Amino acid sequence: MMTKVERVAARSLKEAGEMIRAGEVVAFATETVYGLGANALSGEAVRKIFRAKGRPGDNPLIVHVASLGQVPPLIKGDMPDAAKKLAEAFWPGPLTMIMDKSPLVPSEVSAGLSTVGIRMPSLESARALIEEAGVPIAAPSANRSGRPSPTTAVHVLEDMDGLIPLILDGGSCEVGLESTVLDVTAFPPRVLRPGGVTAEMIAEVVGAVALDASILKPLAQGEEARSPGMKYRHYAPKARLTIVRGKGAPEAIKRLYDEAERAGERACVLSLDGHKSVYGARRVRGMGEDARAMAKELFAALRELDGEGVTRAFSEAVEARGVGLAVMNRLGRAAAFDVMDVSEDGE
Ligand code: TXA
Ligand code: MG
Repeated sequence: MMTKVERVAARSLKEAGEMIRAGEVVAFATETVYGLGANALSGEAVRKIFRAKGRPGDNPLIVHVASLGQVPPLIKGDMPDAAKKLAEAFWPGPLTMIMDKSPLVPSEVSAGLSTVGIRMPSLESARALIEEAGVPIAAPSANRSGRPSPTTAVHVLEDMDGLIPLILDGGSCEVGLESTVLDVTAFPPRVLRPGGVTAEMIAEVVGAVALDASILKPLAQGEEARSPGMKYRHYAPKARLTIVRGKGAPEAIKRLYDEAERAGERACVLSLDGHKSVYGARRVRGMGEDARAMAKELFAALRELDGEGVTRAFSEAVEARGVGLAVMNRLGRAAAFDVMDVSEDGE
């Protein structure tokens, strides 16, 4: 199959909408990451997403809507009160809410669960596409399963060339990490995956919020994942990645880097801009100034490590709160939770 890449424009949006209505898969930008979209009401169309992604069939997809009016047919009963308040506060935006699904949502979308995740993206061209399609769009991130999520059309093409007919190029994604996944069937609502709408922001609107235990540590053997996606190895670069955290991190990273290079590895540091100069002539990928910048850079940086043949990487850490919680969740999973704590003296 030939994969076309077209810039977002009235004509390409119309073409993409028609393709989705016809049961095809189209990649499109959102404010979080690129999505691989198909008609959410067609099990057959949705199966094509799983094939293109190489995704296990037991991992459910998020349904994207362009307006609140598209939600009631997708869910069972009324929207929970908390969900109404959160939609009011954060939609359109990077928040996915898990609710009980209606029979209209095919089991391919929910992967057999009785719930469905719904979000309204804030990127205007994403909502325009949903409107052109005239149906809600089911879309996982547009990477091949196990690869970092794509934040540019070039990333999507790297993974999907020949597998889908069209990539709509909407530029680079503003947030850079996938949406916050929040289970609003639970009380208090539970964050299953942290993202751009932070736990702190959610708590401010609904009073209390729970954080799933899997966010900053691997699942214990035999432990069941509340969000099926959490059990899969994700965001994994080919390089072995270690997170080094604490005041002495730069000194410790220099030592570890030099040891790795002496052992024949090709090493790289993922560094906040403030420390970049500390590493001298070593290979460094700058991650911006703070957690928000790091969120935006992280997936591109992980892809670059692979492209540059890096075999051993060391990353600085940010504080695990606010958007930093999402950064440390994704970084932690990319590192298979290999985290090293170092005090002042670098030991
Ligand atoms: O920002 C995003 O959410 C992007 C863009 C394209 O919108 N989409 C995305 O989709 O990240 P995906 O499929 O890569 O991740 C969806 C996550 C998975 O971890 C999945 O297990 C979880 O949400 N999820 C989806 N539906 C669920 C449900 N009914 N119950 C629990 N977890 C669910
Ligand atoms: Mg994904």
